[in-house]
Parts: sequence; structure tokens; C-alpha cells
Amino acid sequence: MSASATAPQMSVNEPLTQLPAWKALEAHYESMRNRHLRELFRTDPERGRRLTLEAEGICFDYSKHRVTDETLRLLLELAEQSGLRARLDAMFSGDRINITEKRAVLHTALRAPRNATIVVDGKNVVPEVHEVLDRMAGFSERVRSGAWKGFTGKRIRNVINVGIGGSDLGPVMAYEALRHYSRRDMTFRFVSNVDGTDFAEATQDLDAEETLFVISSKTFTTLETMTNAQTAREWALKTLKDEKAIAKHFVAVSTNATEVEKFGIDTANMFGFWDWVGGRYSMDSAIGLSTMIAVGPENFRRMLAGFHAMDQHFRTAPFEKNLPVLMGLLTVWYADFFGAETVAVLPYEQYLKRFPAYLQQLTMESNGKHVTLGGERVNYQTGPIFWGEPGTNGQHSFYQLIHQGTRLIPCDFIGFAKTLNPLGNHHDLLLANVFAQGEALAFGRTAEDVRAEGTPDWLVPHRVFEGNRPSSTLLLAELTPEALGKLVALYEHSVFTQGVIWQIDSFDQWGVELGKVLAKKIIGELGASGPAAGSHDSSTTALIEWYRKRRG
Ligand code: F6P
Repeated sequence: MSASATAPQMSVNEPLTQLPAWKALEAHYESMRNRHLRELFRTDPERGRRLTLEAEGICFDYSKHRVTDETLRLLLELAEQSGLRARLDAMFSGDRINITEKRAVLHTALRAPRNATIVVDGKNVVPEVHEVLDRMAGFSERVRSGAWKGFTGKRIRNVINVGIGGSDLGPVMAYEALRHYSRRDMTFRFVSNVDGTDFAEATQDLDAEETLFVISSKTFTTLETMTNAQTAREWALKTLKDEKAIAKHFVAVSTNATEVEKFGIDTANMFGFWDWVGGRYSMDSAIGLSTMIAVGPENFRRMLAGFHAMDQHFRTAPFEKNLPVLMGLLTVWYADFFGAETVAVLPYEQYLKRFPAYLQQLTMESNGKHVTLGGERVNYQTGPIFWGEPGTNGQHSFYQLIHQGTRLIPCDFIGFAKTLNPLGNHHDLLLANVFAQGEALAFGRTAEDVRAEGTPDWLVPHRVFEGNRPSSTLLLAELTPEALGKLVALYEHSVFTQGVIWQIDSFDQWGVELGKVLAKKIIGELGASGPAAGSHDSSTTALIEWYRKRRG
């Protein structure tokens, strides 16, 4: 990634820790750190209802957080003093708020309706967005109907998305999430890892004559994707035996037409997007092509409508009734005042099994930053670690630590009123567990309760649940394409809110560069004929030598 020598113009805020609201929160934390959710609920019987917000079809219960009205007032003040309103407007209007890459941040334009106007560099970008969506729709329909044939005349039955990071996690998460709506007579696979096993396993039972590769890469230079794409081409040609077959079995999604052409894919089969779409914010751009082929253009557009509804909510709702703003502020509250290191995302919905993995890139590549927009080392914590697994599986593995460990782990529980697969009483059992976990975490079980059950004294401490462990509960009606769009946009904007408070650039990712550069250098040193590994530290040199001796 190239960077010009001139620093971008920007207005530098007062340092975060000097803001009056921050100082007030520090003092307020002292009065909150030992307050228990038991007491907060006992003294306010309406708390559960009062601290629940319904918006855009999402019921967000944030009453089980260690906050009072005063906490919320101060956090909202922090948002105001951090200039969240102005930064939010700047993002939606296409200002170059990704200052280190000097780029606009306009994933919201990807889901803007046809008649919207969003101007970047004097040009309305919405018509182009819809032109690409229409081309994607046309292509998807041709593949789905069988009109698009493979080189030997067979219809396409398998689609493999080749990409990594945002060019993989969004498509695979969305495919899994919307599988219920997908073509069941087609196979969809996702190859991302440069580990050859990923490619080998994804293709071992497929017929190249019926397989379409979607090579997804914003830059079209990413080592993993280019290596897998090259392997895909060799794999396809082994059966198809004619270079002309590539045009029928490979399409590209990229911003880099030159590299796409160099690879040998006809740019007529390329679906473009723009530098103002960040990789981790790209699942609703052409990067979603495999998703669209799987679920059809209509469902894809429903998903975009969900994204857009949440965008509008974020842009227009007052902060105290704004879902992403409240979620973002609560994350800041725990990360910076309680010292929470992580956030657990726990979807009680099997179709969302890849949602935590998707959120890891969205949240951690965005907010894992140690300097402010002005380049100063921060003196507070920024992005926490996001992790999770679908419920109820997690309950039988890591929930022990959340309930009785020594760390504070705020949790996001996600559930749906209706299941897409009604089977006996499965869904009631599933939802009973969502509600039970939130209740157990918040209120725990006291020593008196445990003793009253007849537990011997020596065992009592082991069976006590301290409680006071915070969680949000997010409930939606059903996992529709719209609901998925809303949920993803909710987290996108929560991440943005956090980044604004922390005064960091949530849209660059310089932290991925160093490893890539070093790996390139080491690749040349691994072969027996390559130069001996000498210019590294003694540990890395020894590891390389160990491998060289044994690689065969
Ligand atoms: O390595 C990080 C990253 O740049 C991500 O931000 C991006 O989503 C991913 O690599 C893939 O990049 P590309 O789409 O250009 O192949």
C-alpha cells in the first residue's frame, strides 16, 4: 500500500482523557465498580423494560449492564464531546475520514436506494453501485437458471469463492446465515487459506466442468488469494484442457482491472467496486457475488434493504435511542473503565455460526489501533478482543469461565422469536437457554441460596455465582435477509462509534503489513537452493533451518 508524503489535514480533538465527560466517567466508575446488578434491579422494578430499546425490528435489552441513568448520561455526553455527530455526518457524506489512506468510507452507499445521491469527488456514486448490482443480478440469474454453461456445455452446479479476509469472511458468513434461502441443488464453497488443504478439500469431490470460481480480491494482489486462484486455474485446466475454458469458469470481483486482466480473466467477467469500500465492509458490494448466486438477487436486495434501514437509524435516531451508539458506548465503558479485555458474541442461531468469526475482522481489524488520528500513542485501551460460538454449544465449553472465572466478559446474546426449522420443542429449549444465561450471569447465586439447598459448607464457595456479569440481549423476529443486514450494520456502526471515541482510524489496517513483508522474504529462503537464512534473529533462523532440513 503506498502512502504520500504529505500528512492529511484534519481537526485534532482534545485528547480523549482530557474531555470533561471522560473525567466525569472516571469519577463515576469509582461509585459504580462495586454496585451489583441485583441492587440495580431491586431498586428499580421497571429497569428491565426501561432499559430496552426496540428499533428497526431489533429488541435490544441493555438493562443487564452495570450502568445507571447517570452512567448513560455521561457516556452520551462523551459521544457528544467526541464529535460523534459530525464524524458520522462526515462518513455518510463521503468525506475522506480514512485519513491514513486518504479515502472516503462509504459502505453505506452500497445499500443506498437507487434514487439516493451520494457525491464523491463531484460524482454521484449511487448509479454506479446499482449498475454493478444489476450486472451481478443478471449474471447470478444466468448461473442459477443454467443459462450460463461451463466450457463443455454442462450447467454450473458448484460455485467456489476464492478470497481471504473481507473477501471471504463476509461471503461465507452470509452464505451460512442465509443458507435456508439458498439453492439446495448447488454447492457453495469458500477457499481462503494458503494452506493447500483448504483448496484440496474444497475441490476433491467436484467436477471442473460444473464448477465456477469467483476470485474475490479488492487488490487482486493478495498472496493467499492469488496462489489459490492459480491453483484453481491449474485444477480446472487439468480437466478442461483449453485456455478458452477460463472465461466460462472464472469471474473476478475486484477494484483492480489491470491485475484481473493479467491473471487471464476477461474483464467482461469482472464485477467492480471502489476504493471507498473497505475489505471488511465489502460483503454487500460485488464481493457478495457468491452470496447472490446462492440466495438469488431478490434476497440479496432484501439484505441490502436491512443494511440501509440500520444506516438510516444510525444517522437519524437521537443518540439515547440509537442502537449502534448505545452498543458502542457500552463497549467503551467496559474496555476503558472496567478493564474488560474481550467481548463474547453468542448467537443462539445455528445459521449464524460464522458470525463471530466475521465480527472478529470487522471489530479487531478496525479498532485494533494504538495511535490516534494525530499519530499519538493512546494512553487508554482501544478495541477489545471479540470472540464467540453459537449457543448452546458454548455453554458446555467456555461459559464456565464467563460465569465463575476472574475476568469480566461482557456478552452479546442474539436470538430469534421464530426458527426457520421448527422441530418439536427445540426452539423453546434454545430460547430458554438464552434467557437463563443472561439471568444467571447478572444475578448469580449467593452463598445463602446455595446453603439453603443443603450444600455442605465446604462445597458452598465452589457453587456460588457472584453474578454482576453484564450482557446485552438482542432479539429479532426471524433470520430473514433483512434481519441479517440490520445485524451486520448494527455492529459496523457500533465499531465506528467506538473508533470515534478512541480517536483512531477504524478504516486502515497497517498492522497486517509487517508479517506479509517478512513472509515474502522468508519464502525465498525456504527452498534448498535459496539463500541460507541468516539475516533473522536466532529464534527465527533456527526455526527456518529446522524446517529446511525436514521439508523433504
Ligand atoms: O490482510 C488484510 C486485508 O487487507 C483485509 O483488510 C482484506 O479484507 C484482506 O486483506 C483481503 O484483501 P483483498 O480483498 O485485497 O485480497
